[in-house]
Amino acid sequence: MTYDVALVRRSFPALRSGVAHFDGPGGSQVPESVAAAVAGAMTAGIANRGRVTAAERVADDIVVAARQAVADLLGADPRGVVFGRSMTQLTYDLARALAKGWGPGDEVVVTRLDHDANIRPWVQAAGAAGATVRWAGFDPGTGELDPQAIAALLGPRTRLVAVTAASNLIGTRPDVTAIARLAHDAGALVYVDGVHATAHVPVDVGALGADVWACSPYKFLGPHCGAVAADPALLERLAPDKLLASTDAVPERFELGTLPYELLAGTTAAVDFLAGLAPEPAGDRRTRVVAGMTAVAAHEDALRDRLERGLAELRGVVSHSRAARRTPTLLLSLPGRDPADAYRFLADRGVNAPAGSFYALEASRHLGLGDSGGLRAGLAPYTDAADVDRLIDGLGAFLRT
Ligand SMILES: Cc1ncc(COP(=O)(O)O)c(C=O)c1O
Repeated sequence: MTYDVALVRRSFPALRSGVAHFDGPGGSQVPESVAAAVAGAMTAGIANRGRVTAAERVADDIVVAARQAVADLLGADPRGVVFGRSMTQLTYDLARALAKGWGPGDEVVVTRLDHDANIRPWVQAAGAAGATVRWAGFDPGTGELDPQAIAALLGPRTRLVAVTAASNLIGTRPDVTAIARLAHDAGALVYVDGVHATAHVPVDVGALGADVWACSPYKFLGPHCGAVAADPALLERLAPDKLLASTDAVPERFELGTLPYELLAGTTAAVDFLAGLAPEPAGDRRTRVVAGMTAVAAHEDALRDRLERGLAELRGVVSHSRAARRTPTLLLSLPGRDPADAYRFLADRGVNAPAGSFYALEASRHLGLGDSGGLRAGLAPYTDAADVDRLIDGLGAFLRT
């Protein structure tokens, strides 16, 4: 079966409002099955994790299933999957835990392409440890992040390289495999922000060489929480601050307080939904989720092409999304016009395409767009050609005002 977007859309109650959602990079809409799983966990008899009562087992089973689901989504080891409130929170926690082993003379590498959630936790942790931060730039003209720009910053004291797998601002997908190889050759760890990439392409953290891959289920059709997939052996070596009474087991020792069981149930449902997008319902869930994400990527690339061709016919639109390998997320400038005005104009027509820098502040400044950024149009598994045409028509109408 080919990708049937009309069928996909019927699974999303929110789309019945008629709004065209290009705000997926900020947070995607949710299929009915995900909402049902969240509600199901909340209405089942549930207690704190344990194996004595049935209610305890419900919570425990949900956590174990969610670790396996995220592992299947990412090609990761479920023993290294840690859940938290958000990618930002998890990254701060891991940065603090890792930085306990850093001192003056040690170095960390961050990039100007990244969301601030994969910059500031490292900058601040390095600052507290007396370590040095080295910044990798990207080409503002092409949007490319050259692995050699990172290679030039590596040295014997590099402890960690923090890099995005895809920019949430301009979609660039750097060559993480090459960057990880260079970083590992220098003896450094590789922390990958996979929040934006996970929603758009099949992921295999082992093949990519990420020591840690961070993502957020609410960007890939799931509920609002965060997850990282780390090498369990790395987690075993770290000693995060934690309560004395809580378990010291990995990965639990990184999960502070009680987990949001209902959101984890929703996360599993989101992975199952993505696996259900596979053209053939055959194989284990890992096989199906890779096939499902491959189908999503092909669908989104075709629509991106339609959008880019439509935008090219409008005079007065500049796209900053130019890298050879990128997600279907377009950052647009409208010379002489304020993107925030276009955002409001489109919203009045039921087309949601927000303006801003979307916390990719360094990237926005590096592009010469200051702190206000541009208009962002992001495609999602539920976007269809009619949505794209409405965006093009709406922008055309705005430019004529
Ligand atoms: C690329 C990227 N990284 C990190 C984040 C932060 O994720 P969270 O909201 O889970 O902290 C976002 C959120 O927009 C993002 O797009």
